[in-house]
Amino acid sequence: MTSFANLPIACNDHRVSIIGGGHVGSTLAHRIAQNNLANVVLVDIVEGMPQGIALDLMQAQGMDRHNRTILGSNDYADTAGSDIVVITAGIPRKPGMNRDDLIKINAKIVVEVAQKAIAYSPDALYIIVTNPLDVMTYLAWQTLGLPTSRVMGMAGVLDSARFQTFIAMELGVSVADVRALVLGGHGDLMVPLPRHSTVGGIPITELMDDETIERLIERTRNGGAEIVNLMKTGGAYSAPASATSLMVEAILHNQSRLVPASAYLQGEYGLDDIFMGVPTLLGCRGIEKVVELKLLDTERAALHTSAESVRANIKRAWEMLGS
Ligand code: NAI
Ligand code: 2OP
Repeated sequence: MTSFANLPIACNDHRVSIIGGGHVGSTLAHRIAQNNLANVVLVDIVEGMPQGIALDLMQAQGMDRHNRTILGSNDYADTAGSDIVVITAGIPRKPGMNRDDLIKINAKIVVEVAQKAIAYSPDALYIIVTNPLDVMTYLAWQTLGLPTSRVMGMAGVLDSARFQTFIAMELGVSVADVRALVLGGHGDLMVPLPRHSTVGGIPITELMDDETIERLIERTRNGGAEIVNLMKTGGAYSAPASATSLMVEAILHNQSRLVPASAYLQGEYGLDDIFMGVPTLLGCRGIEKVVELKLLDTERAALHTSAESVRANIKRAWEMLGS
């Protein structure tokens, strides 16, 4: 009888480990498998939960038409040799909380998770999702001890996608024709850039009045909170998973995509020793380049105000970890 037992499941055996099998982590596992990007290991602290989610996702395989394996685990040994590790472990915001309220709990979780993951995947690239994003990315980088190009935070892709969606909805145009760019920390002080946001190549400053643009900017800044307030029991996870999947694809397929990501700055934009949302070139080596745009004085000032807030929270996080 013919046996297929020893045939490889898939020729591309990239492995992406996702630490934190909650809303964002489990949705991301689905996106990565469905987009045929890599085999996935989903790790959570809760026993049985990642195993159950993985089994559920595996049972969708035939209908989703992919051959990716999804393994649920509570053991980091199963993540060994990952190409990418995504950290989504932590708690999300509840109504009335801002992202910074999460600092104390999530700082401890991210440091612990980073220590465990690096022991098994020293050659991986690390994408941090846990909030407050830029602060957690900085803590993870310090804990991992990796070159800055191999550690990054996901937020700019999501924030830019939200701005893109609101522009398309306002103008009644296809979202496919809209490009939007949001820089800065992933918080209330993020910096949407209307001059660099376009519809079919036309800056939105030529298509909408200032008042309308300001309204869309405010909605983008509150994009996460608007969803938390509606859902009440948690935050956004579908668009965040899609945004992270886009970054995973850019890395695994070495696409050199120009995407905003939280990257380590060493003088770019006049900022030093901080992770912040800036345009980056993302490929198989991680952050290949931080792209420096010429900003107006007002845009640069807004970026620096956002950076001050991130910096203050990094300091608070270290103090809390020490206490
Ligand atoms: P969730 O509560 O659904 O999932 C978090 C998971 O982390 C839980 O399953 C929990 O058991 C697990 N976890 C907690 N401690 C752990 C540990 N020590 N080791 C392993 N797993 C652990 O939350 P959700 O909605 O998935 O959000 C996760 C994080 O991502 C939150 O901090 C949230 O604010 C953030 N987030 C960030 C976004 C961004 O744009 N950067 C967008 C959306 C969410
Ligand atoms: C968001 O922006 C909660 O940070 C998360 O949806």
